[in-house]
Amino acid sequence: MREEVNLRSQRKNEHVQHALDQNPKNLISDFEKMHFVHHSMPSINLDEVDLSGSIGGMKFTVPLYINAMTGGSSWTKSINEKLGKVAAATGIPMAVGSMHAAVRHPELAGSYSIVREVNPDGLIFANVGADVSLEGAKKAVDIISADGLQIHLNVAQELIMPEGDRNFKNWQSNIESILNNVDVPVIVKEVGFGMSRETMQLLKATGVKYVDVSGRGGTNFAEIENARRSAKDMDYLSDWGMSTVQSLLESKEFQKDMTILGSGGVKTPLDAMKSLALGASAVGMSHTLLKYVEENDVESTIEFVEQFFDQMKKIAVMVNAKNIEELHGKPIVFSPDIVSWMEQRNIQRH
Ligand SMILES: Cc1cc2nc3c(=O)[nH]c(=O)nc-3n(C[C@H](O)[C@H](O)[C@H](O)COP(=O)(O)O)c2cc1C
Repeated sequence: MREEVNLRSQRKNEHVQHALDQNPKNLISDFEKMHFVHHSMPSINLDEVDLSGSIGGMKFTVPLYINAMTGGSSWTKSINEKLGKVAAATGIPMAVGSMHAAVRHPELAGSYSIVREVNPDGLIFANVGADVSLEGAKKAVDIISADGLQIHLNVAQELIMPEGDRNFKNWQSNIESILNNVDVPVIVKEVGFGMSRETMQLLKATGVKYVDVSGRGGTNFAEIENARRSAKDMDYLSDWGMSTVQSLLESKEFQKDMTILGSGGVKTPLDAMKSLALGASAVGMSHTLLKYVEENDVESTIEFVEQFFDQMKKIAVMVNAKNIEELHGKPIVFSPDIVSWMEQRNIQRH
């Protein structure tokens, strides 16, 4: 038992260390293949821009959130504490990392619940994998008095890990049972490989209302899993999956019925605005904030988030959009390979 606890804690620490070592500049997202059209005579002032929105009845003024990462070890408890303070000061929602460790080993629960301790009134999301039992999902929500539950889909990561899962066909029925039995909104998310129209169609049919496409372009678990071991496994998969831009385009037809969230490779306020323009209701960041908070302190990370949001509003003025709805109607020019993706996948932008 003790050995299993140690292995889980060690695995989480290794994920965080390798994620910190990844250089996002080497990770190609498709945000650079998408361009806003500059507007030289805006009809709005900066202080009129309102990018507020909601996820499942939870209202927020800043459409950003800290996406799932840590918990399960003493190092990652300290990261959760720091990010929790950033979330509390800036008012942005925060998800904790996968809580399977806490569900199975109650002595690890404190490394997650610290987030609630430092942010008693904030919006906090629990996180579990799609193989979790209903009881486990409920427990995860209880441990941090969560306002929402993220269920992650990480099939690529599991298959690349020698010790990973090999059985997936119960995921859909599991998700359905959780949806029908927990009383907080359930967000189904990827972990950096993006989501296709086919996946979202299945999620919609299952009754899922909130989806985070979490695409390629930032944290890359194919590379992280390979960095953890000398025997490289499937290391040719480092560009597997779809970018956040492609995934949000794939989500177009579901945006009326489902709330789509955008994450994966968001490094700048411009990336975040492009995600909103493609239909995301809010934008998540993991690597960017993990790196910032680990290399700086809580105070400067709070300032970073505030400036990030301030700059998003400035970009809104430069495209003459007062709010997220207006942003959706603004012209966008895509590079040829994205146009080709849309043509071959039969995706209409509007
Ligand atoms: C160190 C680290 C640990 C992560 N652990 C989890 C996890 O436990 N559960 C999960 O759903 N996603 C996890 N993720 C994935 C993120 O939530 C996100 O989907 C992915 O990193 C893409 O966003 P990014 O490019 O901004 O990092 C983790 C990411 C990082 C960097």
